[in-house]
Amino acid sequence: MEDLLRAAQQAQENAYAPYSGYRVGAALRSSSGQVYAGCNVENVSYGLTLCAERNALAAMVTAGETRWTEIVIITRDGGTPCGACLQVLLEFVEDARNASVICASESSGPGPSRMLAEFLPLGFRSPEVGRTES
Ligand code: THU
Repeated sequence: MEDLLRAAQQAQENAYAPYSGYRVGAALRSSSGQVYAGCNVENVSYGLTLCAERNALAAMVTAGETRWTEIVIITRDGGTPCGACLQVLLEFVEDARNASVICASESSGPGPSRMLAEFLPLGFRSPEVGRTES
């Protein structure tokens, strides 16, 4: 977990958050053991802002991986992932009950490890999507 915390802190240093001033860094471990990080990237057209967690996932997918097992997110107050990020995090886990989410605060460090399923118990995962009518 220490390596993820360090990677999340490094990513947070590069956060581009001139509008909110809320800097977020995220680092996750893929199923191969590789670490991928992301920071939030804001835009003057506010709604175009990219969250740190989804940028970390994009780095993982870009590198050719589609499964993660552990993520550390650091903010000044230990904030939790937004609903959109939870849904996208869900896309890339085998089992949400075995995917660890740790929210860290700049001052008090990492909080407890909670499972993704606790944050998003009934996330959308329909096997029906993509099926064509016959
Ligand atoms: N933010 C994230 O990066 N991740 C989240 O899960 C919640 C919010 C960012 C978006 C915006 O740049 C700033 O935090 C304040 O909402």
